Amino acid sequence: MRIDIITLFPDFFKNSFSYSIFQRAIKNKIIDIKIHDLRKFTNNKQKSVDDYQYGGGAGMVICIEPIYNCIQKLKSERHYEEIIYLTPDGERLKQSICNKISTFNNIILLCGHYKGIDQRARDTLITKEISIGDYVLSGGEIPALVITDSIMRIIPGAISDETSALTDSFQDNLIAPPVYTRPSNFLNLCVPNVLLSGNKKLIDKWRENKSIENTKKRRPDLI
Ligand code: ADE
Repeated sequence: MRIDIITLFPDFFKNSFSYSIFQRAIKNKIIDIKIHDLRKFTNNKQKSVDDYQYGGGAGMVICIEPIYNCIQKLKSERHYEEIIYLTPDGERLKQSICNKISTFNNIILLCGHYKGIDQRARDTLITKEISIGDYVLSGGEIPALVITDSIMRIIPGAISDETSALTDSFQDNLIAPPVYTRPSNFLNLCVPNVLLSGNKKLIDKWRENKSIENTKKRRPDLI
């Protein structure tokens, strides 16, 4: 899968993909991430990409021209299943959206800043708008990282233990069950006996019950 990220702050992503699963997924060519500096796509001499909003009001707005130029260039090179704008008033990101996007070949993530982007770009160039939560960040870069991480890790081959991503919280609308590792007794804090029993059926049942119990307690909205 190829992800093109359009941003005013390309340096933000400099080391973001050099760790852990990201690094492996890129090395194994499971994912290819390209960063594009929006400033390179403006035709004006000052290289400015934003301007005051019509009608007055505080805050600058990113102009449609550089966004149009950048997206047109990318679209002339390949087909994109989705061109996504990160914005707090977009559709709230959830696991099912990540699962769907992870099946695509090419997507664009457009990071906003300041007051946002000219509405005409949203109306004509963007195919999907996503928010990562009901709070306002200073730009779309962190949301772009969040989306990239969440979709990359479910692409087959990205995680060494294939079943691991499938047993994540939210994959079946349930919170994942608690996990334990050695030692089985730490200062009298003991691992539940069932997990030491070696009985796979019993362990699966215990995990399922814990998932349901925890979801009811912590995220009843998911049930
Ligand atoms: N840009 C600023 N805040 C955001 C949010 N919560 N989600 C997506 N993009 C954003």
